[in-house]
Amino acid sequence: MRARRSLIDLDDLNRSEIEYLFNRTQQFEQKMPKRGLLADKPCVNMFFEQSTRTLASFTLAQQRLGADIITLDPTETGIVKGERVEDAAITLSAMGFCVMVVRHREAGFPRQLSMAFDGHVINAGDGTHAHPTQALLDLYTMREEFGELKSRKVAIVGDILHSRVAHSNIHGLKNLGAEIILVGPESFLPESYASGNVRIERDFDKILAEVDAIMLLRIQRERFAATPNLISDEEFIRGYRLDANRLTKLRDDAIVMHPGPYNRGMELVDEVLAHAGWRYANQVRHGVFMRMAVLDFLVNGQKKIA
Ligand code: NCD
Repeated sequence: MRARRSLIDLDDLNRSEIEYLFNRTQQFEQKMPKRGLLADKPCVNMFFEQSTRTLASFTLAQQRLGADIITLDPTETGIVKGERVEDAAITLSAMGFCVMVVRHREAGFPRQLSMAFDGHVINAGDGTHAHPTQALLDLYTMREEFGELKSRKVAIVGDILHSRVAHSNIHGLKNLGAEIILVGPESFLPESYASGNVRIERDFDKILAEVDAIMLLRIQRERFAATPNLISDEEFIRGYRLDANRLTKLRDDAIVMHPGPYNRGMELVDEVLAHAGWRYANQVRHGVFMRMAVLDFLVNGQKKIA
């Protein structure tokens, strides 16, 4: 079987490929391509975990590129009847599917599928491991704001340990030369995260005035059900919620991001949503074009961009 290009995490892409995806995304934003780029390349979407943004934007991206699309309800697939993942992948390949977008609570599930599927697998989030297209659209959002990300200071705040979004962003930000400041309590941010251009900070207030971008995260409770009470809500809110007072300490040109879904009252307050630097809507909008670029790149390879 011919090995085809998949996207499991950001380290599957080198720097020039990431730059290519930025340029292709921008090109698609400026001018919608003709619908034929994924003609005859059927896509199947399998989300074993809940999703609003990611599933909707992959579906829209596939439609805009002219693909035939099936969204399987995983509770209805043979996998829940004991079929092995590899066998499900073989079945879908035999039907002629070319792209599979998959989200699963188990880290490594998309990689496993990609070894048996004769097509392109895109990881739409696997456990706490990776969420590469989210990180790409986050990086694109920052690049639009700042141009080069080299030496820009980006703080990722909160439940980093359970966040596949944070993990993929760390890969991407390192690759593009940004300075990363991880902010959170010990239980969400072990010391082992510190490395070359990754600094750990426990005191959120200390870094507010120095950062170009802040990335907030949801506390991903469903991923640590077995170890409750890592930190109380009150303690988290006191130390790590972006509130009205903390907003005043940010630089005027600093931006605030969140992959969604955000929980008002926990990691942020309503004032953040009205702040001039809040970029959530930009992230979501870029997500559709970035996913178009990723689909086109995996299936059709790189095109010359004028
Ligand atoms: C994230 C995810 O599913 O990893 N959401 C997303 O895809 N935009 C973040 C989260 O669940 O908190």
